[in-house]
Amino acid sequence: MNETLLMKAPPVTLNIIGCGNVGKTLGHLWTRQNVFKVQDILNRSHQSSIAAVDFIQAGHVVQSFADIRPADLYLIGTPDQHIAECCAALLASNILRAGNIVFHCSGALPSSILDAVRAVGASIASIHPIKSFADPKASTLSFAGTFCGAEGAQDALEILIPAFEKIGGKILPIDSAQKTYYHAAGVVVSNYLTALMELGVQSYMQAGISREQALAIIDPIAQGTLKNIVSLGTAQALTGPIARGDVETVVRQLEAFQQWKPEYGELYRLLGGVALELAEIKNIATRHGIETLRKNLLN
Ligand SMILES: NC(=O)c1ccc[n+]([C@@H]2O[C@H](COP(=O)([O-])OP(=O)(O)OC[C@H]3O[C@@H](n4cnc5c(N)ncnc54)[C@H](OP(=O)(O)O)[C@@H]3O)[C@@H](O)[C@H]2O)c1
Repeated sequence: MNETLLMKAPPVTLNIIGCGNVGKTLGHLWTRQNVFKVQDILNRSHQSSIAAVDFIQAGHVVQSFADIRPADLYLIGTPDQHIAECCAALLASNILRAGNIVFHCSGALPSSILDAVRAVGASIASIHPIKSFADPKASTLSFAGTFCGAEGAQDALEILIPAFEKIGGKILPIDSAQKTYYHAAGVVVSNYLTALMELGVQSYMQAGISREQALAIIDPIAQGTLKNIVSLGTAQALTGPIARGDVETVVRQLEAFQQWKPEYGELYRLLGGVALELAEIKNIATRHGIETLRKNLLN
């Protein structure tokens, strides 16, 4: 239990090292809800730190690690590739004390990337809001309801979980050892979905349809499919030739994609394999249809 912080009279202070899209959003919301007192902000550029203080409406700009004053919590909100070096610089600055909490918001990296600060008795955690933070102003308005993947030391989570919940975060405990799968899932359902839509657009264009028209056609199909996935589950949401076991159509399309671009043919075949698993669960195709599709898609 983090007795130091649980028993501490308010305010609980927070320094933010790397206060960009995520840091500004959280800093602003925590200030507004009186959760933490944002104290010092250190960005790479002075101008950017000033902009962060201005956005959060709290905090004090500092220009180097040597200028940071001791606080209870430290958010390292830099891009992922700078978290470890900032953690090392923070430790070297000698301001960390036992009972402090150092955390980051990366979904790709485990909290253990901050392990070095445990040497002075600080606790570590990672809370990853599953949200796209392109515009901090919009993000403060839409943060409530955001799932936040949380892992790390129990005593750090005891402080951070209520803090994220107070601004509307929905905590999702995650297994640090499986974090790569957790983050890859987000990449697949967001980034790869975008890539898949591009493949669909290009296929429409092969059929002589313009990109603009293709996007207009995709809109209701994709939105409707997503709705069905959420309400019915993936297997029941699957329609089309693989769900029906329509071997001729699938083989014709596979061959067309292979001739157009072999790598797109490969994608059609491999994703068809995943769809086939769903078709088996949905169970409307004949056994013969499923087995013939399996031979064409998976061999
Ligand atoms: N963006 C998202 O949608 C999102 C979603 C969930 C989680 N995350 C995670 O949140 C973290 C922050 O992402 P972000 O999108 O907020 O990044 P960002 O908007 O690029 O902001 C990063 C901030 O870190 C500062 N910085 C960079 N290197 C630094 C250094 N060596 N020392 C001090 N400050 C430094 C930058 O300063 P300057 O402004 O001076 O360059 C900038 O203000 C990452 O771990 C990311 O994985 C992001």
